[in-house]
Amino acid sequence: MIQAKIIFDKDYRIGKVDKRLFSSFLEHLGRAIYTGIYQSGSPFSDTEGFRKDVLRLVQELQIPCVRYPGGNFVSGFRWEDSIGPVKDRPRRLDFAWNTVETNAFGLQEFERWAAKASVQTMMAINLGTRGIEEARALLEYCNHPAGTYYSDLRASHGARKPYGIKLWCLGNEMDGPWQIGHKDADAYGQLAEETGKLFKQYDPSLELVACGSSNPDMPTFGSWEATVLQRAYDHVDYLSLHQYYRNDGPDDPLFLSAGITMDRFIRSVVATCDYVKALKRSDKTINLSFDEWNVWFHSNSADAKIEPWSVAPPLLEDIYDAADALVVGSLLITLIKHADRVKIACLAQLVNVIAPIMAEPDGKAWRQTIFYPFLLASLHGRGISMQPVILSPAYGCSMYADVPYLDCAAVFHEEEEELTVFAINRSLKDQMEVLLDMRSFGPYVLAEHIYLDCSNLRATNSAKAENIHPERKQPAADGSLVLLPASWNVLRYKSVKR
Ligand code: AHR
Repeated sequence: MIQAKIIFDKDYRIGKVDKRLFSSFLEHLGRAIYTGIYQSGSPFSDTEGFRKDVLRLVQELQIPCVRYPGGNFVSGFRWEDSIGPVKDRPRRLDFAWNTVETNAFGLQEFERWAAKASVQTMMAINLGTRGIEEARALLEYCNHPAGTYYSDLRASHGARKPYGIKLWCLGNEMDGPWQIGHKDADAYGQLAEETGKLFKQYDPSLELVACGSSNPDMPTFGSWEATVLQRAYDHVDYLSLHQYYRNDGPDDPLFLSAGITMDRFIRSVVATCDYVKALKRSDKTINLSFDEWNVWFHSNSADAKIEPWSVAPPLLEDIYDAADALVVGSLLITLIKHADRVKIACLAQLVNVIAPIMAEPDGKAWRQTIFYPFLLASLHGRGISMQPVILSPAYGCSMYADVPYLDCAAVFHEEEEELTVFAINRSLKDQMEVLLDMRSFGPYVLAEHIYLDCSNLRATNSAKAENIHPERKQPAADGSLVLLPASWNVLRYKSVKR
């Protein structure tokens, strides 16, 4: 048994968790849209073609916001192809994923689906093959009430009320040479500045995300952020971060250190934003939108065998195991600990494509292993993120000399006088006894202990079996707390004064 200690104090506060930390992402990629959220004529779908079983699982996750329509896809997307009568919409080659896009599902359908799912839209615009003119037209189509060409066109398509989209991504991964219409930092910074200026002129309350680096291993990481922000600082609100984590080997001890890698990435981007703030003597703070994060590697070899130029092929269909659930849980802990600066985070993606939800065309939807840490964090992780002081033994791996076995984040629900702790035991063999010092909280007791037992690291879920799912443990009467090896835990402490 290893021993660890956590100290919490009511005054050690990081900041309020923005509910958009539990957002997700849907791209026109593989089967995310077609046979994912949308399958016209299926017995699983409603009259509009939306998969009802998928919708129920999306609602279960209580996702506040979904980024759409890409991803790499957006950088070659002509949004006008996806509106109006479906029979008039063109089929197009999608050069991001070497597939054919039918446009049977488009902007109008997405907005109707989003209303049913109770999610807000985070709309990404094409700054790859297109520019300010097309972005301006899209803004007018989506948000202007009436009396102009594009707002009247929207009304003629059946949506008299504007969509009122508040959150916009100014392109996607524009630093990446793989991106259609890839630009250098100067060219992108200028385009983001000019597009941002125009959007804010229309409505200063719009929130805009400029592209940061596609991952921290990009050769331009750091200088890209600084250059883009020096141009666009006054006209954007957030800078994006993207990162996917993989378990090559597998090397589980290394994989389980992913939270440290994410933490360093976030700290570096915060530092760069604040460096530009200093250069500009600005009072404004740029916050972070971690709008693509997840584990992604299982499907790489299967994807290499997909026939090009097919419609909605099964791309990026990672089947996640228990180790992936632990890592996703650990990444959520890191995000919650940065709630003061990371305001938006999108688990990439939502259905079928590197996703917590899978839907077979002829079978019902099911929950992957990673569904559960995301669900539990989304349900219990809204409140004030508290700063834990963690005292834990550590192990070494090929990347880091000291990986603490214990990591945790905590969220204080002030009105309910409840402190929810999310804790991972990274030890693959030892139980962990945790001593909690709650100082000025006063008398709190553990009211509920939910956990994911991931000790069988290679266990997966399927349509038939949910091997990884939340379990509950009776809190010990003497207040002692033991975490299982390779477990991710939700500990709900309540005041006993009530
Ligand atoms: O989410 C899959 C892809 O990963 C996205 O299209 C792209 O933005 C990123 O590289």
